[in-house]
Amino acid sequence: MNIFITGASSGIGEYVSYEYAKSGNHLALCARRKEKLESIANKCREMGAQVTTYSVDVSDQHSTKESIEDFLSKITTIDLVIANAGRGELDALHKGNPTIMNEVIKVNVIGVQNTIVPFLPKMLEQDSGHIALVGSVASHIAWAGGGAYAASKFAVRALSESWRNTLPSTIDVTLICPGFVESEMTDPVEWTPFMIKTDIAAKKIVNALNKKKKMFIFPWQWHIVIKLKRIVAVMMANTARKMQKKRAQKAK
Ligand SMILES: NC(=O)c1ccc[n+]([C@@H]2O[C@H](COP(=O)([O-])OP(=O)(O)OC[C@H]3O[C@@H](n4cnc5c(N)ncnc54)[C@H](OP(=O)(O)O)[C@@H]3O)[C@@H](O)[C@H]2O)c1
Repeated sequence: MNIFITGASSGIGEYVSYEYAKSGNHLALCARRKEKLESIANKCREMGAQVTTYSVDVSDQHSTKESIEDFLSKITTIDLVIANAGRGELDALHKGNPTIMNEVIKVNVIGVQNTIVPFLPKMLEQDSGHIALVGSVASHIAWAGGGAYAASKFAVRALSESWRNTLPSTIDVTLICPGFVESEMTDPVEWTPFMIKTDIAAKKIVNALNKKKKMFIFPWQWHIVIKLKRIVAVMMANTARKMQKKRAQKAK
């Protein structure tokens, strides 16, 4: 398979790269930190994969497109694109400065568009392909302090839904929604319920991608929390509707 992975220099992207590092696979590994990327690429080569690295900032449309065009020139078909690169900083509203929030939105939303969209003409031409967007449980729940992050991940969920409805069914779209996973992003976080190890998370992600799941929320505890949240929202909407009906009947 020919696979393009962003955010491959650490955490989830690094371990997903190892999962796909086998003979016959050609991996394009992307991130900004060149040295980290090269050392991960070397490990993947030792495991049998052919690897090309791209030191690129996904929020930069032109350099991301250049990397994609270069990778496409080396391969005949593109099988899988994983838009994983992301930032997870808090809003720090008390500082009155939206710079970090803007950066989070730029990398997590515009970066995903810059990564996926340039591949679509090729996927449409070959009439196959698989795109994977890394969202989060924050694609469903907006935590206190993480408004921009949740906004970015809600947006990623919207993109995945819309693209799935727009693209032909020969192109698969998967939204990956991890809970807490050990990584540089979660290192400074104090409260990390149901946290799982990076290698385990990578195995689960690859398994979900192999099954061409539309959405994969993990670990299972978060799947239940999000389901319950949906059920409670529906119950509250139904109760509000019934009360409105009663009020209207009383007013007659
Ligand atoms: N860990 C969790 O608990 C968790 C939970 C839910 C969702 N996620 C999502 O999973 C994805 C991976 O996160 P992680 O936990 O593995 O964190 P991580 O270890 O901090 O990895 C983030 C990756 O994104 C890359 N990146 C950041 N900004 C970039 C940019 N402007 N251009 C290109 N690459 C960039 C980083 O590489 P460079 O710094 O070298 O560019 C790094 O490879 C993110 O989308 C994150 O939101 C993580």
